[in-house]
Amino acid sequence: MCGIVGAIAQRNITPVLIDGLKRLEYRGYDSAGIAVVDAEQALDLRRSVGRVASLEQICDGVEGHLGVAHTRWATHGRPAEHNAHPHTSSFQVAVVHNGIIENHHELREAQKQQGFVFSSETDTEVIVHQIDWHMQQGKNLLAAVQATVGELKGAYGLGVVSKQETDVLIAARSGSPLLVGLGENENFIASDMSALIPVAKKYMVLEDGDIARVTTDKVEIFDANGQAVQRDIRISTLSDDEIELGGYAHYMKKEIHEQTRAITETLEGRLGADSVLELPFGDEARDIFDAAKQIKIIACGTSFYAASVARYWFEEFGIRCDVEIASEYRYRKHVVDPGTLFVTISQSGETLDTMAALDMAKGLGYTNTLCICNVAESSLVRASDLTIFTHAGREIGVASTKAFTTQLVVLLMLAICLRRRRVGDGQTIDDMEREIVQELRSLPQQIENVLDLENDIIAMAKHFTHKHHALFLGRGAHFPIAMEGALKLKEISYIHAEAYAAGELKHGPLALIDEDMPVVAVAPNNELLEKLKSNLEEVRARGGKLFVFADQHSGLTSDEEAMVLEVAPVNNYIAPILYVVPLQLLSYHVALNKGTDIDKPRNLAKSVTVE
Ligand code: F6R
Repeated sequence: MCGIVGAIAQRNITPVLIDGLKRLEYRGYDSAGIAVVDAEQALDLRRSVGRVASLEQICDGVEGHLGVAHTRWATHGRPAEHNAHPHTSSFQVAVVHNGIIENHHELREAQKQQGFVFSSETDTEVIVHQIDWHMQQGKNLLAAVQATVGELKGAYGLGVVSKQETDVLIAARSGSPLLVGLGENENFIASDMSALIPVAKKYMVLEDGDIARVTTDKVEIFDANGQAVQRDIRISTLSDDEIELGGYAHYMKKEIHEQTRAITETLEGRLGADSVLELPFGDEARDIFDAAKQIKIIACGTSFYAASVARYWFEEFGIRCDVEIASEYRYRKHVVDPGTLFVTISQSGETLDTMAALDMAKGLGYTNTLCICNVAESSLVRASDLTIFTHAGREIGVASTKAFTTQLVVLLMLAICLRRRRVGDGQTIDDMEREIVQELRSLPQQIENVLDLENDIIAMAKHFTHKHHALFLGRGAHFPIAMEGALKLKEISYIHAEAYAAGELKHGPLALIDEDMPVVAVAPNNELLEKLKSNLEEVRARGGKLFVFADQHSGLTSDEEAMVLEVAPVNNYIAPILYVVPLQLLSYHVALNKGTDIDKPRNLAKSVTVE
C-alpha cells in the first residue's frame, strides 16, 4: 500500500528518496513521485505511473537537500500521473499522504470558494491547499500543519515540505504508521523502517496525533495537544540480507523455500524436551493463558485462514474458539463472554481493519489481548497486551507464504498451552503434547520433503495455464487450507478459484464440474479421508479433472482423470501446515507459466493500511 519517504540533509537527497521508494515497492503501488526543494528554492516535482524505475528515469538532474517521495496505491482517483503524490498547492507546499481523508468533499468545496484550483481527484489535495491557506494567513509550516490536521477527519501519515521554509521537514500521523529515522546531521521520515535501511539505524515511532518538526540536526515532536513530547529512540534490526533474492527468480519462491528455516526459527527456544515452554512468550504469558477460558480470533485474508485452521485445534482441545474477519467484526454488535482472550493475527501488524478491530475490542470487556505478528516494530504489537512473534523473517512477496505457516506453528503452540490447562493442572505434560512437540520438531524436515515434489508440481501446473477457473476442496482443518490454496492461485495467476468444504459439493458447486474446471484437493490420511474420496468420485463421475495431494497410504492413485502427488504420512495436527506448501508451489508455477507479476500482483498491496 502507499509508502512515504522524506529526507533533510546537507547532501543531495534525491538518491535517498528513490532508493527508499524502491525499498517500499513490496508494499504494492501503482504510481510514484518525488518533490525536492532545489537550489533556487523551488519545488521540483516529478511523478509517474508504474514502477519506481520509471520515476527514476525522469529524475535526472533533480537535486536538493530537502524532499518527500511517495508510492501510491489508488483509493480516490484512478492511477494517473496527476493523482500521484506529492501534491502541491501552486508549488508552494508539497505533501505526501497515506490514509484516507473522510471529509475531503466539504474541505474541497470550501477551498474552491477560496480560489484554490484542483488538479487531481484525490482526497489528499485538500490537505496541501489547507496548509497553504494557513501559511497565507501568516502561520509557519509547523503551525499550518497543526491547524490543518485539526480540520481533517480520517486517517493520515503525512510528509510536508514548503519552499518558504527550506530547513524543515514536517511529519504528522494519525491512524497511519510513520516514523522518524535519525542519521548523522541528516534525518528522515518513512512509513516503514525498511525504506531507510542504508541511512538510519536509530528511529522514533510517531504516535497518533504526533507532529514532528525535523531539521538536519534536531527532531521536535508535539502531541495532539501541541505539547512537546519525547518518543523512545529504537534501534532497527532490519538488514539488507533479508531483501536479497539470493538466486531465486521471485521473493515468493524464495519465501516458500525459506519455510523450513522460518519454522525452525519460530520454534527456536519455545520447545522443551517434550513440551511447549511458556516463559519465552513473555512474563505475562502465564497469567494471560490462565485467564483464557475461550478465545476470539480476528484477522484478514491469509491470516484469517490461519485462524480458521486453528479453530479446529482449539475446539479439538476443548477450548471454545470463534474466528472472524476484521472488517466484519468491527461493524457489528458483540456479546463478550467473561474470560475471553482476544487474539489478532497479522503478518504486517499494520492492517487497518485488524488494528481497528483491536481498538474496538479494548472497550468491550475482553480479558486480555494477544497478537500473533511478524513485525516487531508494528502498530499492532504496540497496541496488544502480549505478542507472540512468528519469526518468519521479512516477507516481501505480496502473496503470503512463510508468514502463514509460521502463524500456524504459533497457533498450535498456543493451543497446546491452553489445552494443558483444560485437560490437566496447567503444568503436567501428557503423551499427546509429547507427540505433537516431536512432530513440530520434525516439521522443517517434512516441509523439505514436500519441497522436493516441486518438479512434479511443475508438471501439474501446466494443466492450469489456460484455465479460467479452479475449484479447491478440503475437509475439516483442510477446508481452510483449500481456501488458502484458492486465494494464492487467484492472487498471483488471476485464475478465478473457489474453495469448498468437499461435503458441500452436491449442494451446488457440482453443477460447475466439467473438463474445463480443474479440481484441486488435499487428502491427508485422517478420519475424513473416506468421505473425501466419495466427494472426489462425485467429481470424477461428472468428467472433472482431479489434482490431488494425498497421503501415501490414502489409496488414491493417478489415472486418466486424476493426477495424484503423494505426501509422506504426517501427524493429523501438523498436516495442515504441511499440505499448504504444495498448494503454494502450484500457484507459483501456474503464475510463472502465465507470466504475471508474481511478487507484485496487480491491484494488491502487501500492507493494507486503508479500510
Ligand atoms: C494474501 C495476503 C493477504 C493478507 C491480508 C492480511 O496472500 O497476504 O490476504 O494476509 O492482507 O495481512 P496481514 O497478515 O499483514 O494483516
